[in-house]
Amino acid sequence: MRPRRAVMSLVVVILGAMVTLGAFEAFTAAPVARPDAQSTGTAADAWPTPRVLQNLSSKPGVVELSLTASPTRLELAPGKPTEAWAYNGTVPGPTIELREGDLVTVHFTNKLAQPSTIHWHGLHLPATHDGSPLHAVPPGKSRDYVFRIPLGSAGTYWYHPHPDMTTTEQVSRGLYGALIIRPAKDPLEGITDRLLVLSDNRFQANGDVDLPHHTTVQGNIDAQNGREGEILFVNGHTMPTIFIKPGETQRLRIINAAAARVFRLAIPGQKLVHVGSDGGLFEKPVDVDELLVANSERVEVLVRGGEPGSRAVLRTLPYDRYDIQTRPKDWEQPRDIVELRTTTDAPAPAYTIPSTLRVVPAIDRRVIARNRTLVFAQGMINNQLMDMTRVDIRARLNTTEIWTIENVVGMDHPFHLHGFQFQVLDRNGVPEPFLSWKDSVNVPKHSKVRIVVRFENFPGRWMYHCHILDHEDMGMMGILEVLR
Ligand code: C2O
Ligand code: CU
Ligand code: CU
Repeated sequence: MRPRRAVMSLVVVILGAMVTLGAFEAFTAAPVARPDAQSTGTAADAWPTPRVLQNLSSKPGVVELSLTASPTRLELAPGKPTEAWAYNGTVPGPTIELREGDLVTVHFTNKLAQPSTIHWHGLHLPATHDGSPLHAVPPGKSRDYVFRIPLGSAGTYWYHPHPDMTTTEQVSRGLYGALIIRPAKDPLEGITDRLLVLSDNRFQANGDVDLPHHTTVQGNIDAQNGREGEILFVNGHTMPTIFIKPGETQRLRIINAAAARVFRLAIPGQKLVHVGSDGGLFEKPVDVDELLVANSERVEVLVRGGEPGSRAVLRTLPYDRYDIQTRPKDWEQPRDIVELRTTTDAPAPAYTIPSTLRVVPAIDRRVIARNRTLVFAQGMINNQLMDMTRVDIRARLNTTEIWTIENVVGMDHPFHLHGFQFQVLDRNGVPEPFLSWKDSVNVPKHSKVRIVVRFENFPGRWMYHCHILDHEDMGMMGILEVLR
């Protein structure tokens, strides 16, 4: 159990960083791909991907799903059964596949011993169906989430619990899954489309998820940094292999579902073609050498096969998001996360990436109802801890606001807003180079990010917070009320 909400102490035991990994040696060996990730079938069937959640309705445009969160014994780390908490028995939970315009009903049953919710991260839906901590489902109880998928929202999203103060624990024990929305006509139709749910975890010697109390040395480091684990998972597997034909183009949808780890993704020796972000595809593809994916962010990239029989690696490069006092000692280690193996098959027919993927309209800024500043300090927003009974920001429906998120401390904090996709205007005064829809944006240490957001369709109370889950649990969250 986590302690009551309290201001995070910046005092850290000096020994802290030294014990980060020592106690968990059992899992620090080089990750080995599991047999099902290694099979040599066709590219598509070898990829370990969570199964797709079955639609119980047969009516066109109507989706009826059932998700149950319950304790489940699973082998999360190879060879060590864990008392996990899982949606429908798997980690990650089953993938939810939807289409724009769908009317969705999710029957949720909470079989945990504590309150939970399902939050539909990034979706634009009624506030009472958002799965925020204001609408917790008690242990043993059920509820339905009902929402319609807006046109234009095709993209890669995810779902996770969002109870008051225990989100870190519930996600760390295994509750998270992907949600994909497809458009009527996909501009990237016809190429292999893979899902990569990135996460990390840390286990005790007996296989249990290691969640030390905040009063312990490691628990205090977790509270400061956000909890990281030394095992890096892709769809619940370590170091799976993507098979790709020479010259073939494949689409990767990448979700950072980790509680705190930021991935800085690169394939050494190759450019990545960045085609999309949290709220779907960009207008135009962008070639990049690397991509920073803060926790809860999503990226879509296209990768290409190389020479027949060649091997490349998708890697996460060192990224210093940390406060100097609690930086893990191995933070400068690059980590391999996925192997890309080019097959010896005949080369794939050339694929031309469409030069325009879709139209991303700019949010109209001619009338700005309010400019606000949110000051992020360690554990607090505008000098306050989250209070479930307090509204921090009142905005009007059908208005547009500009928010400046200012991080005044020496550690990154990724900002996330529920319910409304926003656009980044500038980062530290540098204008965003192109338009995209975002629901999360990293705010690096001692920097400012300005966003523009329009509040449409759904009045009510919405969360905004730091998406480092320990920070969120400890009160680095506020409530926005959108008034009619
Ligand atoms: Cu991903 Cu408030 O959530
Ligand atoms: Cu969210
Ligand atoms: Cu934070």
